[in-house]
Amino acid sequence: MTYRFALIGCGRISKKHHDALRALPNAAIAAVCDIQRDRAESAGKRLGVPWYTDYHEMLEKETVDVVSILTPSGMHAEHTIDVVQRYGKHVVCEKPMALRLSDADQMIKACDAARVHLFIVKQNRYNKPVQKLRQALDAGRFGRIALGTVRVRWSRDQKYYDQDAWRGTWAQDGGVVVNQASHHIDLLLWMLGEPLSVMAKNGTYFSNIEVDDTAAAIVTFRSGALGIIEATTAARPDDLEGSLSILGERGSVVIGGFAVNKMDTWRFIDETKEESAAVVKEFSEMPPNVYGYGHERFLEQVVDCLEHGKHALIDGIEGRKTIELFNAIYESVETRREVFLHFDPHFSRLGR
Ligand SMILES: NC(=O)c1ccc[n+]([C@@H]2O[C@H](COP(=O)([O-])OP(=O)(O)OC[C@H]3O[C@@H](n4cnc5c(N)ncnc54)[C@H](O)[C@@H]3O)[C@@H](O)[C@H]2O)c1
Repeated sequence: MTYRFALIGCGRISKKHHDALRALPNAAIAAVCDIQRDRAESAGKRLGVPWYTDYHEMLEKETVDVVSILTPSGMHAEHTIDVVQRYGKHVVCEKPMALRLSDADQMIKACDAARVHLFIVKQNRYNKPVQKLRQALDAGRFGRIALGTVRVRWSRDQKYYDQDAWRGTWAQDGGVVVNQASHHIDLLLWMLGEPLSVMAKNGTYFSNIEVDDTAAAIVTFRSGALGIIEATTAARPDDLEGSLSILGERGSVVIGGFAVNKMDTWRFIDETKEESAAVVKEFSEMPPNVYGYGHERFLEQVVDCLEHGKHALIDGIEGRKTIELFNAIYESVETRREVFLHFDPHFSRLGR
């Protein structure tokens, strides 16, 4: 069977979805839509598919199996819930799945009620070095974990934030933690499990935006491990680093590269330096841009889940975990206190 995807949003990330879907043998793009007519038209013409400026019209006219939500972050919940309740379609939703925790919950409920899948795009989980790290953790190779660190030191100037009205706002985007560091934080949670608490501070240094361009947080995991999150878009003049490191009693792994694509360090006490060097070489990859290779691998899994009735690796429940931590980070910033999970956000400005 060929799964037909309708895409809502023809902005920057949509091209990754176009390329990935076109490369998959059992997926096809049924139609595209954007409220900005020129974007919809140019994507439709380039892909040779019908294009719309109203997604209701698109979903009423076209035969579709899956709807991809590629709109600004603060709109994901509204669009997902609407598509699921009115049309009962499976949804692929770009990261972050939502900004407010209550929205993430509503999305999960709506998809459950409609008996459809909700797939959240976290393409970096499919990166070669990331998969290798996860296998090592599953195999218990690290022993006890002391520390996991996420370091995103990227450069985003005023021009970047000014290109679209939603960027750099609390209501539609969220700060550096939510937009730029979201994949790295997702990976930290995927590796280290449930967080118990978080303490965070942030600041806005070099851009004229509502949200933070820099944040620092300390996470305590239920396992006892500590996590450090350092995230900024204020690195100048260029991107410096985007990395994830895990330090355990029997080994240390650091994954870097511009899209968590490069095994920087792989060292275990039960392995020779030569064996480690071979892993570093074999499990690094060089994607063409910061979005990595992962969209194709991710969408391949989506189709595989649909075709074979499998459980999604990153469903709504999995996507919600990062949304809860993001809100806990911003709750801690506002209250200047350690925030214990699980919790209901009261002061986090995300999505407001
Ligand atoms: N997975 C990743 O690595 C990755 C990378 C970049 C962006 N993203 C996420 O993708 C989302 C979109 O980001 P972007 O950079 O493409 O933004 P963008 O502003 O370039 O594109 C969003 C598009 O959605 C359109 N839109 C808004 N409301 C609409 C509606 N009701 N119907 C149809 N179209 C509508 C806008 O007109 C715009 O063209 C964000 O949530 C972002 O966080 C994910």
